Amino acid sequence: MGIKNNKIFITGASTGIGRQLALDYGKAGAELWLLARSETKLTDLAREIQKAGGQAHILICDATDEPAFLSALGIAQEESGGFDLVIANAGWGGKMQYPGDKNIEVLNQVIDLNFRAATQTLEYFAKFMVIARHGHLVGVSSIAGFRGAPSAAVYSATKAALITYLESLRFSVRPFGIFVTDIRPGFVRTPMTDRNVVPMPFLMEVDKASHKIRRAIARKRKRFTFPWQMAVLLHLIKAAPDFLYDWIAGLTFGKQAVSGRTGKAESNTPA
Ligand SMILES: NC(=O)c1ccc[n+]([C@@H]2O[C@H](COP(=O)([O-])OP(=O)(O)OC[C@H]3O[C@@H](n4cnc5c(N)ncnc54)[C@H](OP(=O)(O)O)[C@@H]3O)[C@@H](O)[C@H]2O)c1
Repeated sequence: MGIKNNKIFITGASTGIGRQLALDYGKAGAELWLLARSETKLTDLAREIQKAGGQAHILICDATDEPAFLSALGIAQEESGGFDLVIANAGWGGKMQYPGDKNIEVLNQVIDLNFRAATQTLEYFAKFMVIARHGHLVGVSSIAGFRGAPSAAVYSATKAALITYLESLRFSVRPFGIFVTDIRPGFVRTPMTDRNVVPMPFLMEVDKASHKIRRAIARKRKRFTFPWQMAVLLHLIKAAPDFLYDWIAGLTFGKQAVSGRTGKAESNTPA
């Protein structure tokens, strides 16, 4: 996919989608800067990438710790001399309980990671890309950003906000030759979805998801929702009246998720 010798920055690279993208881009000859909190996982991944012939630098950092995070972004920029591709991928579902004592804490953590850290990543590198008139910015949002998903108020809201931000950012940087892609995955088998207790229609393996995401990026797609069955379903759901949406949500997440009673679906982490 023409990625050899490209410099790529990925957040949330220690597991799941971010890890698979890093591995696949590394194998294709890219030089990678990978950020996450888990030192062991990132070190193992960097070794695996190096064995496969790629190059990887790791940045151990909590993206919600703003001073540490901005400093890590600065280090990556300085070491790389500028990126060809930046992927703001780190995200977390959060788990709200009703009634619950920790909802404000969870709310802040999810907003900080899914929206603040993601947009800070893109804004930070956009500045350098605009000056260099070269680069591609990618955000990983979710199908959960299309409508308010049951049991996922803050997750859904942060992904909807990220979708809107990415669309708007595209207009700001396009005149400078910078591309923006919004990746909107359906259900992908990762540690995030391993915790799910509800049915996950069209669940995709992470290697297949990585292939589809990399192809969409190579094609410089503005947005990419996958799998296609979910994309079709979601466009219908977006236009559906509330009574129909409530009925579909009830089928998927259980009646308790839409009736206001607590139950099994409260422990779900959405796509
Ligand atoms: N899997 C799906 O079905 C699905 C569907 C739609 C959208 N998505 C989105 O895809 C992205 C990747 O999800 P995934 O399924 O691959 O999840 P995952 O396996 O849980 O990976 C999340 C990544 O984010 C990192 N991370 C979490 N908190 C962090 C923090 N405070 N600071 C820095 N890094 C942090 C994790 O590493 P550490 O724990 O080591 O920090 C990990 O590398 C997310 O934005 C998610 O919302 C996933």
